Amino acid sequence: MNTESNSSVSRRGLLQAGAGLILTVALPPVPTRAAESNSYRIAAAPARARLAGPARPETDVWTYNGTVPGSLVRLRQGEPARLVVENRLDQESTVHWHGIRLPNAMDGVPGLTQPPIRPGERFVYEFTPPDAGTFWYHPHANSLEQLGRGLAGAVIVEERESIAVDRDLLWVLADWRLTEDGSIARGFGNRMEAAMSGRVGNTVTLNGRVSEAETVRGGERVRLRLVNASLARIMALRFEGHRPVIVAIDGQPCDAHEPEGGRILLGPAMRIDVMLDMQGVPGKRYGVVDDFYDGLSYRLTELAYVESPPIRAHPLDNPLDLPRNPLPEPDIATAERHTLTLQGGMMSMSGMGGMMGGGMMGGGMMGGGMMGGGMMGMGKGAAWAVNGLSMTGDGHAGMEPALTFQRGRSIMLTLRNETAWWHPMHFHGHSFRVLSRNGKSVPHRQWQDTALMAPKDVVEAAFVADNPGDWMLHCHVIDHQMAGLMTVLRVA
Ligand code: C2O
Ligand code: CU
Ligand code: CU
Repeated sequence: MNTESNSSVSRRGLLQAGAGLILTVALPPVPTRAAESNSYRIAAAPARARLAGPARPETDVWTYNGTVPGSLVRLRQGEPARLVVENRLDQESTVHWHGIRLPNAMDGVPGLTQPPIRPGERFVYEFTPPDAGTFWYHPHANSLEQLGRGLAGAVIVEERESIAVDRDLLWVLADWRLTEDGSIARGFGNRMEAAMSGRVGNTVTLNGRVSEAETVRGGERVRLRLVNASLARIMALRFEGHRPVIVAIDGQPCDAHEPEGGRILLGPAMRIDVMLDMQGVPGKRYGVVDDFYDGLSYRLTELAYVESPPIRAHPLDNPLDLPRNPLPEPDIATAERHTLTLQGGMMSMSGMGGMMGGGMMGGGMMGGGMMGGGMMGMGKGAAWAVNGLSMTGDGHAGMEPALTFQRGRSIMLTLRNETAWWHPMHFHGHSFRVLSRNGKSVPHRQWQDTALMAPKDVVEAAFVADNPGDWMLHCHVIDHQMAGLMTVLRVA
């Protein structure tokens, strides 16, 4: 293999080197281009999966096309896509294409944007993805149970040009609560949990299985797409001995930067693309550790270097930045300003076990919400609210929008987390630019569809309300969403 000086490696030559590499070490081939069309059939149906390795029992799961995660959907930027979804579950469902800026009627929120897909029926989703990047799909009906039983898959929208990396890898991370016999624990929608951290499980899978190690080769540059498809588990990933560089958040390219403290914070529903130059020692292994919850860190997997010599002597020096997507830049000076305040949840630390130790909770525990385990005066089943109002469930007809924006207006939202809990706040149909957090401006031109908020955080985000329709804004800890941490914003 040619390991000439990096600067003279042309993009094309580099890609060929990557292809050669795959053959030499017999890694599973990575499809680099989508199938000829942007057309998929996706069936939601029960199946069985071996999540925790050959020594552990199989698990009854709900899947898209028989696997967890569901079929990978690869689309091309700017080309029309057609996704025929068939419901073979015994309950209603829908598919939401999380993070893709698509027409409202294709957004997959039952009642709000489409009728639910009944058992035995199908729905055809058609849209043209404007942005390249890493997205995902999941149900938006009975979401807690449907996502919790495995219904989730990744969507990769390919850039118009190839990106110069040796390999493009996808890790769909999911959290499961398994019992001894391998089945999924009951008790979805536990009220206590809904008012705390949500249903955090006990088993984390990487592409549908507990991972011992992932094979890598010295010298290669990998684009690693991380997707947190968990119901509630927040992750903070550290790559021992490596320096991942974040190049995209929630599918949207940002200025390439190393994560603060080397920890990649990944709330539920978030995606982060990193570039990883594999500079480890051939034959060695390096842990990938999730240490988000104090005292509960675990090894997600290991990067296992093959014995053969590095494919190149020095890391590549071509730029890491990905091409930007065509997002409309909000005009901050004239933007309309609104505040959304997140309220509710438990105030008491009792009963949380080791889930949230010291250091995790940030500032004080006082301020709006519940005292000594008592609930705020919210309606039945509600534990949370946005601006004093609790919308519960998964979306339904006649949900009145909390705010209405004139199409084309620049909007600046201040999200205030008055609660003692973390919330990944997600907005449908748009990506927003995160401007500041707790008064400090956020660098790297970060666009997101899901903003992870620590307790008491105040986040300012701006976007152009250019996509007409009624759009959900909710916490992506699904128990929180179901228990009232949801609202609807209208672009008219
Ligand atoms: Cu993944 Cu309502 O969203
Ligand atoms: Cu979404
Ligand atoms: Cu939440």
